[in-house]
Amino acid sequence: MSPNKEFWSSSKGFVLAMAGSAIGLGNIWRFSYIMGKYGGAAFMLVYLAAIFLIGLPIMLCELSLGRASGKGPLEAMTELAPKKTKLSFLAAVALILCATAFALKGLYFYAGTCGFFALGALLFGWGFLGFTVTFLTPLMIAVFYSVVGGWIIVYAIISPMGRIFREPAFSAELLDNIVTASGSQFWVTIAAALAFFLATAFIVMAGVQKGIERFSKIFMPLIFILIVAIIIRALTLPNAHEGLRFLFLPDFSKLSAEGVMAALGQAFFTLSLGSGVGIAYGSYLGRSSSLPKTACTIVIMDTFASILAGLAIFPLLFSTGLSPEEGTSLVFKVLPVAFGKLPLSPLWGTLFFLMLLLAALTSSISMLEGAVQGIMQKLYLSRAKAVILLIIVLGPLVPLTAVSAANYSNVPKLGQFFTETLKLRSESFFAILDNTTCLWLMPLAGLMTLLYVSYVWGNKSALEEMNCFNAFDWLFSKMWLFVVRFISPVLVIMAFLKGLGIFF
Ligand code: TRP
Repeated sequence: MSPNKEFWSSSKGFVLAMAGSAIGLGNIWRFSYIMGKYGGAAFMLVYLAAIFLIGLPIMLCELSLGRASGKGPLEAMTELAPKKTKLSFLAAVALILCATAFALKGLYFYAGTCGFFALGALLFGWGFLGFTVTFLTPLMIAVFYSVVGGWIIVYAIISPMGRIFREPAFSAELLDNIVTASGSQFWVTIAAALAFFLATAFIVMAGVQKGIERFSKIFMPLIFILIVAIIIRALTLPNAHEGLRFLFLPDFSKLSAEGVMAALGQAFFTLSLGSGVGIAYGSYLGRSSSLPKTACTIVIMDTFASILAGLAIFPLLFSTGLSPEEGTSLVFKVLPVAFGKLPLSPLWGTLFFLMLLLAALTSSISMLEGAVQGIMQKLYLSRAKAVILLIIVLGPLVPLTAVSAANYSNVPKLGQFFTETLKLRSESFFAILDNTTCLWLMPLAGLMTLLYVSYVWGNKSALEEMNCFNAFDWLFSKMWLFVVRFISPVLVIMAFLKGLGIFF
């Protein structure tokens, strides 16, 4: 099969598209709700360490795998080295051990996940890693991401009327109905989630350059400007310093094992790692750009966006007296209050939610892109047919996830099926998708990618692929070699062990 022919029109276009994938709901919605839940500054330090010691090196691995193979994530690994190696066998053994440990702890769901991976690694070797990062993880994310995208659509539609900014009680009740898909908002929520999902699919159908680049180029800078405006307003409110303290004064006693896992998961989520995006986009990248510079730019932009969002949201949160442990609805409760305190609130609010919607779309298209590439290659389908196939398979899961957030109270039959037949007690389908991907699938795929690049493909080849142009690139790539071999894999394994309560 010939390598991909669709190249980015420029390396700047590529950086913007990667940044478009990275910057999204993860930086604003997920970052603030996870940070609120796991306790502020101490979490932030672990998160930053995870970004620079694990995330950045893995992103470089993914980009070089993509560009070297010229293939999408599905085939990149098997293109560059034999399918089954000693290491893939060892990985399978390790996974069987994990599955046993989970089973002994009574965590059958996770035991099953590890068992599934072990079987895949035994049967398909590295090809299974390709399958996971191409189909499993990004598509699971696309489903729950569409639900949050739907909430944003609803907010964007009602913002111009201004009532959510003038009457906090109205906005709280409305939000409750939206996030739990209940009351007057039952159908609205389902329709909005589906609309978000279909919009994503439609853009992917339109093709790489036209669909992705154009969107990213125009809208990314605007959202930064609006967030800065909110920060300025937020910092002048009473009690704002409490928020700054929460963000910057670490209290390590609050950091739990779960918090460490969550920080790692957030690092993967926010950089779109462990899900084939870097490999897919890297395969479209021309030979002339330097990967270290590109990856650093993307990671720094994304981290900057998250910190800005934190600076806007936490001072506001404390000045309005809400609790940081608000959960998935945190930003949706805090932001209307913020806009309510600005002159012309309907205008700023509408603009903000529209832009957030676009940021979310540039991310969600990257979740489908790799899978579409994979289906096109394997089933010899056109892009349009591949997208339609995805719509048929994933479409029904979107409403299911949207209504699961209310613990199925609106749809008791469905609830019975999940809680009694499948025995998935007390967790919503939404939470299961979120936890399985962020806490397990992505870090696991990331770990495998690190091992693959270091010990199977060989990091000499990766180094050649990077195109080091100057002293910075050169120095950076030497450090990268060391970190990828010895630091990142150990850190990921330590986080796993800590999460399992086996270590520390
Ligand atoms: N990084 C995006 C965000 O922060 C989410 C995202 C896009 C993603 N593509 C992904 C997450 C692939 C995991 C995998 O919103």
